Amino acid sequence: MTGKGLVTIERHIIEAEREFPEATGAFSNILYDLAFSAKMIAREVRRAGLADILGLTGEVNVQGEEVRKLDEFANEVIFKALDHTGHLCGMASEEVEDFIPIPDRFPTGKYCVLFDPLDGSSNIDANVSVGTIFSVHRKVSDHERGCVDDCLQAGTRQVAAGYIVYGSSTMLVYTTGNGVHGFTLEPSIGEFLLSHPNIRIPNPGQRIYSCNEGNYSLWSEDQRRLVDHLKGPDGENPKPFSSRYIGSLVADFHRNLLYGGMFMYPADSKCPGGKLRLLYEAAPLAMIAEHAGGAASTGEGRIMEVIPTSLHERTPLYIGTKEYVQMAERFLAGSGVAALV
Ligand code: AHG
Ligand code: MN
Ligand code: MN
Repeated sequence: MTGKGLVTIERHIIEAEREFPEATGAFSNILYDLAFSAKMIAREVRRAGLADILGLTGEVNVQGEEVRKLDEFANEVIFKALDHTGHLCGMASEEVEDFIPIPDRFPTGKYCVLFDPLDGSSNIDANVSVGTIFSVHRKVSDHERGCVDDCLQAGTRQVAAGYIVYGSSTMLVYTTGNGVHGFTLEPSIGEFLLSHPNIRIPNPGQRIYSCNEGNYSLWSEDQRRLVDHLKGPDGENPKPFSSRYIGSLVADFHRNLLYGGMFMYPADSKCPGGKLRLLYEAAPLAMIAEHAGGAASTGEGRIMEVIPTSLHERTPLYIGTKEYVQMAERFLAGSGVAALV
């Protein structure tokens, strides 16, 4: 219980805005538009398995419209919810190669939004949780209608970040730097209700590690020793960690945020720069992890401090319980099994 009765996301955002008398409402509106997009995407994700029996697959559906993949659908929903509001100077999406300008017919504003419209989408046919990740930055360029530089900012400069997980229920989790708050969608009334105020990664929490261990042979020696250590066979760690890997970053991260644990997507010989995207995946989740008392690292340093040089830049990622992330950094620096948790 929150002690404040039922709190919708709208009320939560408005109450937070009242603490900033100079606020114009633009920022609150962006968050509200993202919550609205989440409901639209959740509705479509819920119907995903019905496409075949309702005759919605194939090139063209019964209305003669082309059927889009869910990640393209999600991309368009977010773009259309935000393009005309006058609050943004541009967007960037994992699904779109270049900076996304605001169409000329609409006014522009002082923020930009970056997003992964549907994370874990390869899982969707198996009815596994997927998600959306977003990040909000302030406009910094002199370009009147925004430009790519507004998106290429370090994570420390995010003014908000969040994700939606479309799981057994739909949840939206976000931070503006003042606590991490989680809302669960009440589907019958279509409202996100505050269900997880002020989330902190439990400490001590569960000893969980999450990674694609199928890549073991592609990993560096240090990375292998880290995972060997977590599993216990090095004899230095008598109580092995549990392994949990869904393959949807949002879902893996969400579980570890609530239970404790560390998600890793290391660099490997196939992806020497890592697989996950800095701007759409790593940086926004890093902001949430840090504000929940956790940490996020490239393996060498803070994700939040990485200054991006291109929109689709990738990074290795270690994220979750702070002491586990610090342990990973020690292993990757070659400190080996002397670096114990
Ligand atoms: P996306 O669906 O947005 O492309 O992201 C997929 C990502 C992420 O969700 C997940 O953690 C990772 O890919 C899984 O990768 P592997 O299949 O290589 O384990
Ligand atoms: Mn993704
Ligand atoms: Mn995606």
